[in-house]
Order: sequence, then C-alpha cells, then structure tokens
Amino acid sequence: MLALLLVGATGCPGVVAPPPGITDPDPDPDPDPDPDPDPMPKPDPWITVEAGLTSLTTTATCVDLDPGERVLDVSPEGHLWLAITSTVEAATVRVVDGWSVQNVSTFRLPATHIQVVRAWTASTASMLADGQLFSVVEGDRTVVTAPGPLAADATFCGDPTSAAFVHSAGAVYQREGDAWIEWTGFDDALAADATLLSRDNECAGIDDGVWFSTKDLELWRLQPASFSRPMAIESGHDPALLGDRTLVLADGALFVGPEPWTEYRFEAGDATALATAGAYAWLVVDGEVLRFDGEDFVKLDAAAGVLFPHASGGLWLASDAEVCHFAPDAMLRVEGARSGTQSLEPDFALRVKPSRDVAVTLAVDETDVPATRVEDGWFVFGGALSLGWHELVLEAGGTQRTVALKREPAVIRTFETDIRPIYQEHCAGCHADGANPAAPTIDSYEAWVSRAEKIRARVVQFGDMPPSQSRSPTWGEDQVTVIEQWLGGGVRP
Ligand code: HEC
Repeated sequence: MLALLLVGATGCPGVVAPPPGITDPDPDPDPDPDPDPDPMPKPDPWITVEAGLTSLTTTATCVDLDPGERVLDVSPEGHLWLAITSTVEAATVRVVDGWSVQNVSTFRLPATHIQVVRAWTASTASMLADGQLFSVVEGDRTVVTAPGPLAADATFCGDPTSAAFVHSAGAVYQREGDAWIEWTGFDDALAADATLLSRDNECAGIDDGVWFSTKDLELWRLQPASFSRPMAIESGHDPALLGDRTLVLADGALFVGPEPWTEYRFEAGDATALATAGAYAWLVVDGEVLRFDGEDFVKLDAAAGVLFPHASGGLWLASDAEVCHFAPDAMLRVEGARSGTQSLEPDFALRVKPSRDVAVTLAVDETDVPATRVEDGWFVFGGALSLGWHELVLEAGGTQRTVALKREPAVIRTFETDIRPIYQEHCAGCHADGANPAAPTIDSYEAWVSRAEKIRARVVQFGDMPPSQSRSPTWGEDQVTVIEQWLGGGVRP
C-alpha cells in the first residue's frame, strides 16, 4: 500500500550554518588585518527595532476559562477551540468565535488524550487523539486511516482526509488524495521529536516546502524536487512560518529567513514568544505584544498572554483565567478556499466578509481582480488560475490577508508510466550509466528527482535537451509537456 519516495538529505545535521549574529565565529580570520587607523564604522549586522512603536488601540472581548480548560487551536477564521478532558473518557469542547464571542458551540468528544488539533471552522477540525487521526464535523468524529502506528508525540499538518503530512518517530508520511506515501532516505537524520510547522494549519506554501523543526531547532525543508536542507539555530525557539519565510526567536532577537537571515533586536527588551497567522507575526517583547507584517512592527495596547493569532486578522491572548480577543483592524473572513490548498480545478471562487463596513479588494499575483458582486456583506470573487502557486492578496481597511492556492495539472504523471519510457527513448543513449562520459547519469527516479530543477531548465525552459542535432524524429512538444506536468505535479514515482 505504501509507495516509497527517496529523499536524499544533503549535508548532515550539525554541520550547518547558524544565522548571522548568533554564534558565527569568523571561519576564515583575515590574515592581513586592515591597518587603517580610522576605519569606517561597520553597520550593525542586525536591525534595531526602537522602543516607541505606534500603538494599535483596540478593545478586547474576553471569555472566562473554566477550571482545567485549555486552548486546543484557533481556526484560520478566528474560532478558538477549547477543551476540558474529563475522567470519563470524553472531552468537552467549546468553540468561541473571535468575531463575536457570544457565538459559542459546545460538544463532547469521546477522546481522552487530544494530541494535535488543526481547526478549520467553528465546527470542523482535523485531530490526532488517542493515537488515531480523526476528522471532526459538528461534534462527530470519524477515524481517518493512519499511514502506520502513530507515536505518542506524532504530529501532523493539513487535512489527513485529503492533503497532509504526518511525522511519527522519525517517519514521514504524506497524504495525497486517498493514499498515503512514505518519504524515506532521512537516514535517522530527522529526530524522532521533530514537529511539523504549519501555515494556518496547512503544510505547504508558495515555496512548495514542508517544514520540520526538531526540539533543538534544527529546521528541515522538504520539497518535491529538491532535498531537505537542515539548518540549526542555537538556543532558538518558537519556529513559525509566514508565507515563504521562516521565523525563529533566539537570544531575545527575531530571525527571519531562510537565506539570508535578517536579525531584529528590540530596544525594549527580549522577544520571548512568537506566533504567526495569515499576513502577520505576533511577538511578546518585554511583556508587550507586537505585530510584524514582514517589514514594520506596531504595538498592541494589551497585556501579553499566550498568543493565538488567526489568518482572519485578529488575535486571541490566553491567560490562566480567561481568553481575550483583539481585532485592531478590520478582519476578513474567507469562504470557498483554504490558504495552502491544492486543486485540479482551473477556477477559484472566494467569498470574503470584512468585520467592518469597508470595501474588500483582491489582487491575484499582483493583478487586481474586481469583486463580481456583493451580497449580505460578502464580497464575491472568481477567476481562472494557471498551473502552479498563486498569491491571492485581500485588503480591506488597512488589513491584509493572503490566500495561497495551487492549481495542479489535471493529468497526473508518474515516473514509471510516463517518464521512464521518454528517458529510454530520448535520453538513455547519452545519460545511461557509462553511455557518454560528458553527460551525467540520470537513469533512475532518484536521479530525476535530484536533477528536477536542471531538467526543468534544460528541457522545458531552454529546450536544449536532447541536443537538437541528435534528437530522434519522435521527440516533440508532447514529451516536453509530459515532463512539465510530471515536474508540476509533485514528481510522483
Ligand atoms: C546526444 C546525447 C544526449 C541526449 C540524447 C540527451 N542529453 Fe542531456 N546532456 C548531454 C550532455 C553531453 C550533457 C552535459 C553537457 C551539458 O550540460 O550540455 C547533458 C546535460 C544534461 C543536463 C544537465 C545536467 C547537469 O547536471 O547539469 C540535463 C538536465 C539533461 N542533459 C537532460 C536530458 C534529458 C532529460 C534528456 C532526454 C529527454 C537528454 N538530456 C538527452 C547529452 C545528451
């Protein structure tokens, strides 16, 4: 039932570069130090965030927590999932809507140990509980077949009924449609304690990467056509993803990467907590809450708590006794598509509702797309998407929300069925092992995956492979299209 995908891990964990500014002893000390007695002052290798930041004023709406009640998750739309696990083999779940905290629903779930929750809406969530994967709808839970036995500290991102990743004791599984596949080749490099990072609860984003973090902050990126790349961030904590960026706190500073890493230090004090959702990262710095949009920081007029931001634009702050919701700007609720999802459909359809009386605009890959109509406060958008990832940026009254959508090729190509025959007929003459010393060997699935980007460049983009003077008469656009579809569809074995 399991297909095996080989993932070569380049580099070895441990021999990795720390981001600038942490512990980067000069690897190549200058043998001839500059004798200039009055050197130009060097710019700081970090950016200083000044203390007097603009404040966002807002009023909080709070809900008391019952004794023993804890936060499970917050949905991208702002629904806070809370639970009390009772001794009678059931958990009482309470869902509070950040848009209107009077909207509360409560139900009981037959679960004793809820491990990971990915909440989608007020009534739907994916869940790992009691060693099993579940899909929860309106308080009912349905078991989702797991790829194998799940360890007590297993984690997942995405929706295990359709598109998800599961990590359990060093094993990595991917759910694609109705099948699980296992990624192998990590050679025990991925520690058993690794967790999956998510973007608004989904796994992949516009960089097509799925991110793992181990307890000692080794960050791994897994991409369909390139190898996972480890990075270690000494004494780092709270790793998070914001679009195609990776954020980590270390030594009281915020690092935004990867490659190059930018370091932000705070005049006000140390950054101690970080969480991301939608277009924003939220931080706790010296007991205050800051919001970062990727460029600028602003301060929220609120006492810090545990951060539970949501893509809709607001923030839940949890303390021991209560949870409070803040919405300094207009919030945007989205129906029709979840950010990070992949679809075969050529068209997208979104319904977007602002929390205030403001107009909503949409730009798809930086081109404005007007709303087709407005009904009951919902702005309706639609259009066609070409293959690949697209960034749908919504804006309303100073707030932004990005929905990343991927359109997959309608034809599913696999290496064995579609690519190997092309290779045999058109490439093997030169690229088989020992055929032509000048041509690198690309005679296996693994070799095609590891050279995927080069194959895309030489065959699809520049069209200079096979070399024009030695093409078989049967080589043509059809073969190029098949290779392009295979690359775009996630290089299936
Ligand atoms: C007539 C011989 C010949 C055929 C047929 C041929 N190649 Fe090549 N290919 C070469 C040679 C020689 C090189 C190395 C020189 C260069 O990069 O141009 C090369 C280089 C490449 C590279 C760059 C590899 C790297 O690591 O830089 C790719 C990718 C590639 N070929 C793909 C293909 C594919 C895919 C096919 C079949 C669809 C194919 N080639 C057919 C001779 C051939």
